[in-house]
Amino acid sequence: MSKQQKAITLAFTGASGAPYGLRLLECLLVAEYQVYLLISSAARVVLATEHGLKLPANPDAAKQALVAQLNCDPDKLVVCGKDDWFSPVASGSAAPKQMVVCPCSAGSVAAIAHGMSDNLIERAADVVMKERGQLVLVVRETPFSTLHLENMHKLSQMGVTIMPAAPGFYHQPQSIEDLVDFMVARILDHLGVEQGLVPRWGYDSRHI
Ligand SMILES: Cc1cc2nc3c(=O)[nH]c(=O)nc-3n(C[C@H](O)[C@H](O)[C@H](O)COP(=O)(O)O)c2cc1C
Repeated sequence: MSKQQKAITLAFTGASGAPYGLRLLECLLVAEYQVYLLISSAARVVLATEHGLKLPANPDAAKQALVAQLNCDPDKLVVCGKDDWFSPVASGSAAPKQMVVCPCSAGSVAAIAHGMSDNLIERAADVVMKERGQLVLVVRETPFSTLHLENMHKLSQMGVTIMPAAPGFYHQPQSIEDLVDFMVARILDHLGVEQGLVPRWGYDSRHI
């Protein structure tokens, strides 16, 4: 597998659900993916609010904090700034073929649906779409307005996977971590990353 094939772009945006993004990052790093991580300003607020993780705005300092938090291989993680137009993810000639926005805000859905490319997250998503790669948006908002639904419908028609952060309960979760793992397992399945986080339906599911 080439370097580009075993790489992925992951964006954290300012929707509720920071634990999904952190757990997904951890699993991708354990699976030895090269992860290009993009973090919006609002995502940093949500990470601090929901997880108590105060990430510095500076990408190198944010990387150091994440490496310490996840105890991961620093060589596998690249944290990109929002205006880092020289990042590989900004160009179809170098960008990974897969990208996940997790969690994905309604604002980022709108910007991506309209090709705004106004920051590196929006540009990276635009690149993956134009290169016919795989884009997964783990959208979190409730209720959805007609505008949210129209934007998601438009993206879905273009081949983007809209995966609402809506964990199931049929695996009888005992903790928040179980709920988080349910969502992360479904995302990893869609990306084709081997995982054993949650028992598979019909194989090891608990019945009444
Ligand atoms: C703690 C917190 C939770 C939020 N939760 C959501 C949410 O669940 N969904 C959403 O669309 N926006 C949510 N927002 C609002 C977004 O962060 C805001 O619209 C922001 O502009 C999104 O920007 P971004 O997509 O560039 O990260 C939340 C904001 C904060 C501070």
